[in-house]
Amino acid sequence: MILRHIFDPGTITVIHYQRRDRRAVRDLLEQPNHLHCQLDWAEIGDWLEQSNARAWTIWQGTRLVGLIGFGETLSEVCWLRVLLFRMEVDMGGLLQHSWSLIQPQLIASGASQVAVLIGDEFWMVYLRTLGFQPLDEVVTLRRASMDLPSPLQSPVQVRGFMSPDMQSIFAIDQAAFLPPWQMSLFDLRQAERMCASAMVAVHEGKVVGFQFSTFYFDGAHLARLAVHPDLQGRGVGHALMTDLILRMSKRSVYVMTVNTQLTNLQSQRLYERFRFSRTGYDLPVWTTAL
Ligand SMILES: CC(C)(COP(=O)(O)OP(=O)(O)OC[C@H]1O[C@@H](n2cnc3c(N)ncnc32)[C@H](O)[C@@H]1OP(=O)(O)O)[C@@H](O)C(=O)NCCC(=O)NCCS
Repeated sequence: MILRHIFDPGTITVIHYQRRDRRAVRDLLEQPNHLHCQLDWAEIGDWLEQSNARAWTIWQGTRLVGLIGFGETLSEVCWLRVLLFRMEVDMGGLLQHSWSLIQPQLIASGASQVAVLIGDEFWMVYLRTLGFQPLDEVVTLRRASMDLPSPLQSPVQVRGFMSPDMQSIFAIDQAAFLPPWQMSLFDLRQAERMCASAMVAVHEGKVVGFQFSTFYFDGAHLARLAVHPDLQGRGVGHALMTDLILRMSKRSVYVMTVNTQLTNLQSQRLYERFRFSRTGYDLPVWTTAL
């Protein structure tokens, strides 16, 4: 039986994660714990070492009892990526206390909002006490079809990504997505490194859209698709999707998934046009103001 420790703020220290804590974090991960982890491209240990990760360790005396990790602040929003607590601690008290110490530091980094993608009712109970409210849902769509789209008359050429395209891709991502959905340059670079297909759409010599896709065990996942708002509604997204599906079919990949927001009807219409349909696997996104 696990005995729940009484929370005493006097014994608690909350400090920035440092490289020397790596071992203690690994030990904590091996103990009975509560873990929420939303890291798209990395394991916790590796993610903590990344230059854009910000994490705070929570100590009771000399014992690590918790870890809270955030991504970098972008357009005043930062994503809550990791919540890790030793099973036997008083989670409510510890989370409230740590949050009150971390909050001013997030504000100092330029953040006015924290977002989190979380589906587990266990965490929602605690997040509500920190002021988190539902904002949207991330929905999953899936395509399993050998029917191939026919390329239409297109205003763009689709070609493979090249490293100098990254700045344009970042600018497109910033312009096409609203906060909290934009990706940082760091995360886009990471996504591109991990992906199996990275293509850009070029219009009059300028990159105006892109898609990044990864492979998983029996299919492909469209990880990112965006078209510059000035060129939307002119078939650029259609051209990128057609290219992707034809490219995947050459590798005998006929199953594809994609995530988008429930409120993003424009993207859902495009995906449905390519025979994607909702899987019913939806995850809520919650936000809180700082
Ligand atoms: C979703 C998104 C990628 C779509 O890209 P887009 O270039 O605007 O899409 P398209 O122009 O190909 O398709 C949009 C419409 O233009 C029409 N269209 C116009 N000219 C066209 C042409 N030459 N060929 C094909 N379709 C054309 C399509 O029929 C479509 O109409 P519909 O919405 O009534 O079905 C884009 O809106 C975007 O970047 N949104 C913000 C980021 C985002 O939501 N990303 C995806 C979710 S993660």
